[in-house]
Amino acid sequence: TIKKDKIKKALDKAAAEAPQEEVPRPFWLDPPSGTRDFEPAEMKVRNWLFDHMRQTAKEFGFKEYDAPVLEHVELYERKAGEEISQQMYCFTDKEGARVTLRPEMTPSLARMVLNLTNLATGEVRAALPLKWFSIPQCWRFETTQRGRKREHYQWNMDIVGEPGIVAEVELLTAVATFFKRLGVGPDIVGIRVNSRKVLDVAITKAGVPRDKFERVCVVVDKLDKIGAEAVKCMLTEDLELPSQTADVILQCLQASSVDDLAKAVGLSQSDPAIAELKTLFELCKAYGVGDYLDFDASVVRGLAYYTGVVFEAFDRKGELRAICGGGRYDRLAELYGGEKCQIPFCGFGFGDCVVVELLKDYGLMPDASPSVDVVVAPFDATMQPHALKVAASLRKAGLSVDAALTACKARKAFDLANRQGARLVAFVAPGEWARGLVRVKDMEVKDPSTNEGLQVDVPFADLASV
Ligand code: HAM
Repeated sequence: TIKKDKIKKALDKAAAEAPQEEVPRPFWLDPPSGTRDFEPAEMKVRNWLFDHMRQTAKEFGFKEYDAPVLEHVELYERKAGEEISQQMYCFTDKEGARVTLRPEMTPSLARMVLNLTNLATGEVRAALPLKWFSIPQCWRFETTQRGRKREHYQWNMDIVGEPGIVAEVELLTAVATFFKRLGVGPDIVGIRVNSRKVLDVAITKAGVPRDKFERVCVVVDKLDKIGAEAVKCMLTEDLELPSQTADVILQCLQASSVDDLAKAVGLSQSDPAIAELKTLFELCKAYGVGDYLDFDASVVRGLAYYTGVVFEAFDRKGELRAICGGGRYDRLAELYGGEKCQIPFCGFGFGDCVVVELLKDYGLMPDASPSVDVVVAPFDATMQPHALKVAASLRKAGLSVDAALTACKARKAFDLANRQGARLVAFVAPGEWARGLVRVKDMEVKDPSTNEGLQVDVPFADLASV
């Protein structure tokens, strides 16, 4: 027993002397589930991505707009069984208004356009078409997984007031141009295109009431997830469609070409819905982005409001969820503003999460390390005012400058320059400063005689013209 006591004592002593366990972290130090903090490196990537989005949209002549992240719940109450309706962050505010964090931008855009519209006549008080873009943060209460979060930024480009297929062509080309800018070729991604108009013809021919069309599309969009049998079951049981009609719809989804689709529905090549699709592919080819496009009859999209062409961009390996999605929605304004508001709309939403996963997979991420041009280092506290003067002159000359906040001898200044990604270090030291000079060291170009960074003493008066 004496031995046991000794062992126990030794163990207790060791436990007491062991490094302390990490302090438990309260859960609320992490951002809420499915949301993100953006530290500077992530922010740099985000800004890089947004710059490309903005640049592309501007190249295509689109103007930027924005709207509040808080919206009226009524805008999203479409009752077609869409997933998005169940994913909203909604609440009643202190005045009793039913509001939600926007799950998407499209209803806000329609609302804004209706505010430019005379609801009695449907006349839009703006020169049409409008070409607008935005990069809103959207909120959806989803099960988070790779590329799917509870908040995401979604680049939207929409054309308002143009009923012709050239609007879709313009938008598809903008998406393809954006991919090209990022170095993502048509071997890596494709944009699958289809038209709901053909499905519309099929179900109208089968005598299905028009008001079921949206619900049919929402059900059919689940094909990938739940399979043909379950879709048929939902069409016949939940929507009470005849079994034969459900079969025609499923047949439409399997068509391997536009011609095949026409055959499945019993349409001629000259039918507008078919001819329009063919023209779209021809025009995109002429625009130089045909390689990105595929016809895919199974793309229907899960949002109720689409009425015509629909499209989604996918990684060709099929490992990620849809990279972007969009289409024509010519009846949303009418739904909100009344029957006079027959305003054609067409657009897409392109999220920031999936594309970043894709860029990571293909080694196409930009350099996220920080970068300034110069670090200015005061040798000691007496040099600080002079160093600040030097920093101001260099900034005036157009350089980005990180001014060291405390005195820096050479080693510390080099470390700082490395951390900041600065190529130049400007030392402000008593000896040189007395002669009106600043010692500038190049961290990248070596002096062959010393094998150290090239170093020159520059008159302070010349710095503003660096
Ligand atoms: P959507 O297909 O619901 O369409 O979303 C468009 C894109 O936003 C998706 O392809 C994806 O890149 C991204 N996205 C959506 N949900 C999430 C999520 N939970 N996490 C990460 N990314 C996500 C719309 O929202 C339509 N309003 C697009 C549109 C604009 N149609 C016409 N104009």
